[in-house]
Amino acid sequence: MTVQTQSRDKTRTFREMDKRYTWHPFTQMKEWAREDVVVIERGEGVWLFDTDGKKYLDGVSSLWCNVHGHRVPEIDEAINRQLGAVAHSTFLGLSHRPAIELSEKLAALAPGKLSRVFYSDSGSEGVEIALKMAFQFWAQSGRPEKNRFARLKLAYHGDTVGAVSVGGIELFHDIYKPLLFKTFEAPSPYVYRWPTSSDPQTVCAEAAGEIENIFRKHRGEIAAFIIEPLMQGAAGMIAHPRGFLKRAAELTKQYGILLICDEVATGFGRTGTMFACEQEEVNPDIMVLAKGLTGGYLPLAATLATEEIFRAFWADYSECKTFFHGHTYTANPLACSAAIASLGLFEKNQVLKNLRLKIERLRRGLEKFYELPIVGDVRQAGTMVGIELVKDRGHKTPFAWEEKIGVRVIERARKKGAILRPLGPVIVLMPPLVMENTELDDLLSITYDSIRETGAGH
Ligand SMILES: Cc1ncc(COP(=O)(O)O)c(C=O)c1O
Repeated sequence: MTVQTQSRDKTRTFREMDKRYTWHPFTQMKEWAREDVVVIERGEGVWLFDTDGKKYLDGVSSLWCNVHGHRVPEIDEAINRQLGAVAHSTFLGLSHRPAIELSEKLAALAPGKLSRVFYSDSGSEGVEIALKMAFQFWAQSGRPEKNRFARLKLAYHGDTVGAVSVGGIELFHDIYKPLLFKTFEAPSPYVYRWPTSSDPQTVCAEAAGEIENIFRKHRGEIAAFIIEPLMQGAAGMIAHPRGFLKRAAELTKQYGILLICDEVATGFGRTGTMFACEQEEVNPDIMVLAKGLTGGYLPLAATLATEEIFRAFWADYSECKTFFHGHTYTANPLACSAAIASLGLFEKNQVLKNLRLKIERLRRGLEKFYELPIVGDVRQAGTMVGIELVKDRGHKTPFAWEEKIGVRVIERARKKGAILRPLGPVIVLMPPLVMENTELDDLLSITYDSIRETGAGH
């Protein structure tokens, strides 16, 4: 039997077993059952290899989390070293070196006065923690009536029930409405589809004005305003106009509302700076990190809070002001070790400095996409890119959901050797920060050709 036949058999077996036993996230399994599922066997740098040996560019950083590539010796080694010590011991009632060291590093890196680090396992949990912290902060500061949240339309903060409550994507969230708590919704400054203007600064002012209306009317009820800084990712990569984050942050201060920056997607260099909120000199009261925290290796999230928030929980035991929250794997030592190694690589390899030219290369490469008639809008914040496809550019007419335009584009891209994942009609690119120029050019040309060929039938 040849090596090729062996690997084809292996792939067939895995595919059958996958379809028989697994249930994939955000996936209509009836469709999945018809697909030739790609089974990934290994990774190397910015490449993923399937069980047939075919290689693909990891064009969305393994769902927006990979930073330095796959099989990075320094991170592999840090995890192996920790494995030689202990894989897991609880953070409830005990502590350990990797979490202590990582907390010190995160507190030093974080903007403003964020000084306390609370760990969990995913971005959604990090958001739940932020919401519960903000709620309890006010309850324990003599303002229990400040117990509601404000958010943007089309917001996405994760899939647990609290995170879905502060979400605003109908397709994902509507079915769960009876389970959710009510929030105040302000419009998202979606320049391409703003009804009254296409001038970013006008959109910025009008959207911020709506936030202020909500704050003015409900300031006494609102605990916190939660936002994805600079770029609303899952909504379809909606890049906010310059100054919007700053204005929203000023309004939270003015109206005595806590600001939660959800940097789960934008953190760790994705927008060109370590954290997106740095670009508008915004200092949140609470910041949520996950995805790139471990370089994309292991599940870990961190919710950072200011000392002021922390102090509202500081009391005699009998007062029961403890933050009653924790998970079995809180601050897992392997994940914390990976995170420390990843942060070390940012410094050692001057990742952020080297990124500037790549972001510019990406920007220039994307200009060409407007040649394609189905490309309506191209949005970018650093290495986060959304290409919105439309049926009729003049009228910005969206494709019907059933046309699966995004899915069809990424299927073509996959055949050409790049893994992408669409958000409805928006093609997302989010390469690992270390992608080389030639790889970046390949990713752009595969995406361009895939959109062109798919669009040719319209
Ligand atoms: C802004 C934002 N917040 C929270 C989450 C949820 O993170 P996780 O998937 O790790 O639960 C995501 C995931 O994409 C996100 O983009």
